[in-house]
Parts: sequence; structure tokens; C-alpha cells
Amino acid sequence: MTLCDSRGEPVSTSDPSLIAALEAAHEELLHYRGDPVGMIEAVLADHPDFVMGHVFKAAVLTQAMETRIYDCMLAAVRSAEALWSVANERERGHIRAIRQWVDGDFYSAVEAWDAVLVEHPRDLLALQLAHLSDVLLGDTVNQRDRVARVLHAWDESVPGYNFVLGFHSFGLEECGDYGRAEEAGRRAVAMDPADSYAIHAVAHVLEMMGRQEGGIWWLTSRVEDWQHGNFANHLWWHLSLYHVDLCQYDRVFEIFDKHLQSDGLSHDKYEELDAAALLWRLKMLDIDVKGRWTRLADKWAPAAEDTLYAFNDVHAMMTFAADARGDLMAKVLDANERYVHSQGDSNVAMTREVGLPFCRAIAAFAKGDYDEAVDLLHPIRHRTAKLGGSHAQRDVIHLTLIEAALRCGRYKLARALISERTELKPTSPQNWLLAARAFEGCRDEHRAAAANARAQSLLLSGRAAREVA
Ligand SMILES: [Fe+2]
Repeated sequence: MTLCDSRGEPVSTSDPSLIAALEAAHEELLHYRGDPVGMIEAVLADHPDFVMGHVFKAAVLTQAMETRIYDCMLAAVRSAEALWSVANERERGHIRAIRQWVDGDFYSAVEAWDAVLVEHPRDLLALQLAHLSDVLLGDTVNQRDRVARVLHAWDESVPGYNFVLGFHSFGLEECGDYGRAEEAGRRAVAMDPADSYAIHAVAHVLEMMGRQEGGIWWLTSRVEDWQHGNFANHLWWHLSLYHVDLCQYDRVFEIFDKHLQSDGLSHDKYEELDAAALLWRLKMLDIDVKGRWTRLADKWAPAAEDTLYAFNDVHAMMTFAADARGDLMAKVLDANERYVHSQGDSNVAMTREVGLPFCRAIAAFAKGDYDEAVDLLHPIRHRTAKLGGSHAQRDVIHLTLIEAALRCGRYKLARALISERTELKPTSPQNWLLAARAFEGCRDEHRAAAANARAQSLLLSGRAAREVA
């Protein structure tokens, strides 16, 4: 028998309480809080023939991108496949997508979810998974347009509309449409203040526009709405980026120590990604982070040979390089080189085109061969999106290239690359400090002084604004 969920999408069950339980778990997932998988497992324990329960569990696990959850994800999709004959077409579409994902064909998985959305544009689970997959795969255009293709079926009367606006906001932001992105994100947050994905989308807008003070206010003024959820460490990372730009390093370390270095070795991979990304930025600024790299390297060590997701591997490599773990660096490089020659899944292309060159560049940087780092990074700088993640996350590649160019004396190249940055984000003090270094290297004392003055003026105006507030 088929019933419908609150958005009118068909679910194979005759028990309305199962739909209510599924939607309760999905609400937690959408809000990045609680334990959605645990909630649905409790339902499945009593109702092992609930197709959407298995689909939901397997679908959520696809986004973890960690080797240790693979068996659990595989078992969940097998349980769903075993119920194929009683599943409806929408549910079969999900099962097809998850199977493609489990088999390593991420692009076909997204296409399968997209096919579900053509028939069922209010399938919020399919939209969420396709959207998050677009982020993982760096498909910037579809981060915006896959959401746009279902907007015809949504308005305020449909439960969960704010989440759709939040996804759209992020996609608009990644495509550079900051005005519309900010409007959609703020609208979503107004509808549901606990929509941490929409809060995050607006944080990206403020980051990309160089509105650091506004970003600090945006996140800290609503910290109670996001700090207890599963997305909190990433939002703490975003908050720390504004402070890095304003050279407020004491605050950056305070955030890192409180929120980005949990005890133990088996924590959320996303925290370890953010921790590595933040410390590497500080390394590029030549700031001593003391023993923090060592603790982080211990956490990353078990994943050195994962080759599951290039985005993870480059962050592992940054950590091992910064902590001078030569053995682990060799493991990452060897595993990736073996992997790109022996496998054919979607992650191979990401690894070959961006991940492995970046890992090699990190190794070169770590041994002081900055020329080699530049030669490795410069050719890939326009295709970094293939690594996945956001512009803000991938900026670490551009910063590494610029820092390497400055350190090996390729000042004219650095000057050009930094000119691009100051044009895109003229309110960034760090951009002007980089510009000053490049001009000094080019023996252009006049422009170096002017760039330094721009940086100091931005830093002082931020300080003045805080004192007035
Ligand atoms: Fe982000």
C-alpha cells in the first residue's frame, strides 16, 4: 500500500506512523542535529520491511565519505534492494542512485536522483542528496540549477521550503550571484532560525564579499541556533576565517582550541578537514601553531591510504606535511598513485586532475622546493572546482600557490595572482598584505607602501567599528 508524506510524495507503507518517524529523522538531518541514522535504525528494528527507512539510512551514509562506514552503507542499500519488488518507482530511483554511489560512480548517482526529482520535485531527500553531492563533486552550476529546476513545485505552503531556499542560496553564492544568494539565505533563516545550512550559505556570501565584520555578527548573533548541531564545527571554521582576515589570531586559536580539536581519534571527518584547512592557512601566514598539527596528524593517520575522496586526501597531506610526518606523506602519495592507475571510479578523475598534483605540491612546499610547488599548482588553478567543496575551502590551493611564488622569488607571478584577489575582494586586509609583499619583491616601494596602507586602513576601520559598537 502507498501513503504520501507531508509533501505529497508516495511512500510504500500502510502505516502513517512510519512516515511520521521517517520525517522526524529527516528533519534532524536537514537541521544537522541529533542522530538521524540512529532514529531510523530504531524504526527499522521493528519494521525491517520499511523501504524508505533503508533508503534513508543508506542515503545519509553516502555523504560521510569515510571508509569506516562503507560496510554499513553497503548493508543498508542491500536491505533496500531486497525490497525492490514492493518499492514504488520513486523509491527505486533512490535505490538506483545509492547503488551507483556505493559502486563509486558518483556522477551517475546524482543523475539517478535528478531523475527522481523530475517526477517528484518535492522529494526533499532526493534534492538534499543531489545538492550535497554536487558540493562534494564541485558541480558549481548544478548547486544552483538543480535546485532551480524544482522551484516550480515549492512555495511557503510546502513543509521544508526554507531548506530548498537554503540550498539555492548556497548554489547562487558559489555561482557568484551574491545579492540573490544573500536574499534567499536570509529568507530561509527568517522562516526557520535553526536552518544551519542557510545560515552557512549567508556566511559564504559574507566571506566571498569580504564583509568580515558582518560575517562575525551574522554567526555570533545567532550562535545558539547552530552551535549545538552537527554542522557547528564548519560554522566555527567560517567564523575563524573572518578573524584570520582581520589578523585576530588570538580569537582564531580560541575558536580552534574550543571547537576544532575534539579529543579522540574517531571524530567527524568534517572537523578534521576544517582543522587542517585552518591550520594550513596559518602556516601560509607563518604563524606558529605549536603542537596542534601533531594532535591533528594523529587523527588523520588512519586515513592516510583511504583514497576514498581526493578532498580528504589533500587535507591529510597538509597535516602530515606540516607535522613533518614523512612516512605518512609517502603513504598518501603512494596510495594515490596506485589508485589512479588501478581504479576507474569518479574519484579517480578528481584525484588525477587536482588531488594528486596538490598533494605533490604540498610535499614540495614542505621540503622548501617552492618553485616546484608553483609549477605543480599554477596549471591546475583554473580547474580546482573538480576537487569538490566550496570556493572558500579551495582557496587554500590559491593561497598555497601565492605563498610558494613569494617564497621562491617569482614576484611578478605573485603580483598578478594577488592583483586578481584584491580586485575580487578589495576589503580583505590579508589580500593587501600579500600585495605589499609582492610589490616589495618587485622593488616597487611606492605600491608596496600603498598596499600596506590599504591593509592597515581596513584593519583600523574594523577596529573602530567594533569600538563604536
Ligand atoms: Fe562552508
